[in-house]
Amino acid sequence: MNRILLLNCGPHSDASHGYRLARETLAAAGITDAHITERDLVQAPLPPIGRDYALAITSNTAHDADGLQQSEQLIVELEQHDVLFIVTPMHNFTIPAALKLWLDHVIRIHRSFAATPQGKVGLMKDRPTFVLVSSGGFFAGERAKQQDFLTPYLRYALASIGISDIHFFPLQGLVFGPEAVAQAISEVRLPMSEKLSRALAIS
Ligand SMILES: Cc1cc2nc3c(=O)[nH]c(=O)nc-3n(C[C@H](O)[C@H](O)[C@H](O)COP(=O)(O)O)c2cc1C
Repeated sequence: MNRILLLNCGPHSDASHGYRLARETLAAAGITDAHITERDLVQAPLPPIGRDYALAITSNTAHDADGLQQSEQLIVELEQHDVLFIVTPMHNFTIPAALKLWLDHVIRIHRSFAATPQGKVGLMKDRPTFVLVSSGGFFAGERAKQQDFLTPYLRYALASIGISDIHFFPLQGLVFGPEAVAQAISEVRLPMSEKLSRALAIS
């Protein structure tokens, strides 16, 4: 059975449209809570990147060194799951600070990526990854009126540790009232649920 790591990255926690849709989609795919590890990066914030960590990753420090404990815990957690599901808002055209902090702890030299003359090479196992991106306005498709730095950045950052089987689902126009929200959800529900069912069948 798949083990799913669900990262909830927005300030609305379990009231977020994205989170509710993610939960509904997972339940519809027959995934029970027993197979989901949920990490709410706003309700349970990670510590900022401190000096110990900054020193540890720029020197050849052992993986069990004090400064690396938080990073190590998050990387092991990611290793223990074979599906990653990120529910994130767009904040100022890119990922929110809470998700950036998770990446800063997880993307670690000699551990989740190797530095080679050709550039960074990911050391993590690839796995189906779903990214449900909530936004007040529109950033994809014909109605887009703003640039999207979230999708290319997150794709690149996750690829640097070996995760490239990524599926993005934009949940857009959420500030335009209940009808717009219902429309956004109806556009995403089916494709996301189909993709999830296919991914779960093979991983
Ligand atoms: C600090 C902040 C920055 C935001 N920046 C953007 C933005 O750049 N583009 C956009 O369309 N919406 C932006 N929004 C709106 C949020 O993306 C939107 O409220 C959120 O995704 C709602 O989704 P949820 O119900 O799933 O939490 C921003 C909201 C906040 C709080």
